[in-house]
Amino acid sequence: MNHLKTATQKLHKQAEEMPFNKEMIQGKLSKEAYGAYLLQHQSIFQTLEKFDLPHPDLSRGNALKEDIEELAQHIQDVLILDATRNYCAHLSALNPTNIQAHIYLNYMALLFGGQLSKQKVPSTGKIYDFENQAALVQSIRKIQHDSWVDEVNKGFNYHIQILKELELYL
Ligand code: HEM
Repeated sequence: MNHLKTATQKLHKQAEEMPFNKEMIQGKLSKEAYGAYLLQHQSIFQTLEKFDLPHPDLSRGNALKEDIEELAQHIQDVLILDATRNYCAHLSALNPTNIQAHIYLNYMALLFGGQLSKQKVPSTGKIYDFENQAALVQSIRKIQHDSWVDEVNKGFNYHIQILKELELYL
């Protein structure tokens, strides 16, 4: 197993076991709850995509826009959560090297766990559609670095806080 994965798996498990994710993986999320989740991710990916990506096809901007438009009538009252603002502020303050740890974290989440969620969410799930998944994973593996452990663990902690605040919509 790669070192980065081993050194961050405790928090991966914690994120995976958050009530919001458990409901998602069991196909129990309402359109409002999933829409709220997408809106938080739109803020995160907009922030990440101000930086260069290891492969242009990773970009999630258009897919997020379409998924959110599909649920628009269910999410009129949904806000960007404090935890999401905190994570985006953290990301915006990073340099082009440190941001790569969060590119690994957020795109691998979609390329792996996201593929399990796709069948379970109340949406077409365009954010989980990748043209050439193997090539995209490879583009991240090529830049992946063991020195990212602390930054990746910080990212998991921000996601855990976001998932906790999202419980408001359960
Ligand atoms: C419902 C929740 C989740 C499920 C079911 C899930 C499931 C998975 C699975 C099956 C893998 C592949 C593991 C393997 O290679 O053996 C994976 C990898 C990964 N997941 Fe998740 N995941 C979830 C949530 C998350 C979250 C919230 C994040 C971070 C935002 C995340 C980040 C990652 C990363 C970075 C990898 C790649 C690890 C590596 O191989 O280097 N996952 N996930």
